[in-house]
Amino acid sequence: MGTRNQPTSVLESGIMKIRTVTTEPFADQKPGTSGLRKKVSVFRQPHYLENFIQALFNALHDLPTLTLVIGGDGRFHNRDAIQVILRMAAANGVGRLIVGRGGLLSTPAASCLIRAHGANGGIILSASHNPGGVNGDFGIKFNVANGGPAPERVTEEIFRQTQTIRQYRIIDSDDIDLSRDGEVRLENTRITVVDPVADYAALMEKLFDFDRLQDLLGGGMFNVCFDAMHAVTGPYATAILERRLGAMPGTVLNYTPLVDFGGGHPDPNLTYASELVEIMAATPAPDFGAASDGDGDRAMILGQRFFVSPSDSIAVMAANAHLVPGYRGGLAGVARSMPTSQALDRVAKRLGIDCYETPTGWKYFGNLLDSGRITLCGEESFGAGSSHLREKDGLWAVLFWLDVIAARRQSVEQIVRAHWRDYGRNFYTRHDYENIDANVAHDIVSELRTKMATLSGKTIGGHQIAKCDDFSYTDPVDGSVTQQQGLRILFRDGSRIVYRLSGTGTEGATLRIYIEQYVADSARHGDDPQTALAGLIAAANHLSGILTRTGRGGPTVIT
Ligand code: G1P
Ligand code: ZN
Repeated sequence: MGTRNQPTSVLESGIMKIRTVTTEPFADQKPGTSGLRKKVSVFRQPHYLENFIQALFNALHDLPTLTLVIGGDGRFHNRDAIQVILRMAAANGVGRLIVGRGGLLSTPAASCLIRAHGANGGIILSASHNPGGVNGDFGIKFNVANGGPAPERVTEEIFRQTQTIRQYRIIDSDDIDLSRDGEVRLENTRITVVDPVADYAALMEKLFDFDRLQDLLGGGMFNVCFDAMHAVTGPYATAILERRLGAMPGTVLNYTPLVDFGGGHPDPNLTYASELVEIMAATPAPDFGAASDGDGDRAMILGQRFFVSPSDSIAVMAANAHLVPGYRGGLAGVARSMPTSQALDRVAKRLGIDCYETPTGWKYFGNLLDSGRITLCGEESFGAGSSHLREKDGLWAVLFWLDVIAARRQSVEQIVRAHWRDYGRNFYTRHDYENIDANVAHDIVSELRTKMATLSGKTIGGHQIAKCDDFSYTDPVDGSVTQQQGLRILFRDGSRIVYRLSGTGTEGATLRIYIEQYVADSARHGDDPQTALAGLIAAANHLSGILTRTGRGGPTVIT
């Protein structure tokens, strides 16, 4: 990818003025696990957003021929940032922009629109599950023509452009009205405002048995509670679950997207989705509960007083995919991120299909999906998805589960327990230590790396270590190699401890410790994971010295 020639003059055009603004590079515009994610205050510095967007345009070619999809999760700064991006796109001569009404698009809906309209890519304004509001986080993700997150060679090129940028182009114009569907022109750029839900809902209808779902949800015998956490899935879940499938009004909680997510943390886990967790723990409770994150690509699945571990969720989905119309033809293969439990591997083995193990981050599934090697994939961080898009998809996972329930006529808990009986249970937990001192975190990891060289053959937490490594991945499609993706202690019995630093946080560092142990004996399947894994948890804490070195009493979040 080359750098385009930069205009140097100020052009007058009608009442609009294309300005070339002089700027200086910011050193910190390197995209992380999922785009560029920073505090709102960082994004609101003069030129910060503009620099990154110009760097992105500089990294693209033939702008007048391009169609880009644009939308965001509605968090603080979404509204202003989108207007800047539209004005910059027009000043840079981008051919066409497809924008979600109100500037809203969930991440999966953006992926869907890119694919449905044959667009060349998309810009998604979101910091996913990170808090919003004026003191919260903001983010920008760039997706490519397959609808998926830009691969590393593209984000690297954008980063390279941010380091040398000296000017950007923008039009002085009034705000574009994004409140109504329709089309406007800004200079030579065609801007189409579309319903953010329609294409996505149509795709869901192709994949799932909507008649069967209507019988289940509309009959009044099966109650669902979907917590949109004041984030972007509210309009999607209301349109599909309540209006289309007849679920009771009130099924979708916190359905209005708010700039600060109502002060909450739109991360669907047992800690941050506490409102839903309480509802599902009560007696009586709804039959099915789900919560979705800021940009709608994650979902937590709950039964009555029952939590489905995301790793189990993906395995159960794979094992039951033949019951769902869109997947009746069978799964080509499956994939999971490295720290995700190996429950999925067991299903793949039974089905006689490949199971790929990728680094953390959805972008690594792109090539596997594009090449037809896999149909279904997921991560332990509440993300699951399939070849229907190139992003993880929260509401899709909810509809998948509901369709399986409708087919099997069993509760969430019955389905998961039957799965464990059939395959054994991969006990699993993730301990997150959020916002720890970055130096301490890096010291912990580098000392662990050194220590791990001496561990093989030793026994810790009652398990014998087979090997230790720093996970490295070679993409089977393009041969690209990604290194240092997590320190792994692999035990002879298949148990694992994995240490990884988060690539999405914006404050200090977040250390994630992932712990897994397989238990075949069904008499033990009812155990609490924290109890079942206590030996390995203690060993993981001891090896890293995490508690003493951070002075913490325990993890910030336990999943
Ligand atoms: C986290 C999750 C990862 C997910 C990413 C983007 O990244 O762990 O699975 O793909 O968010 O949603 P991390 O903070 O661990 O780098
Ligand atoms: Zn997300």
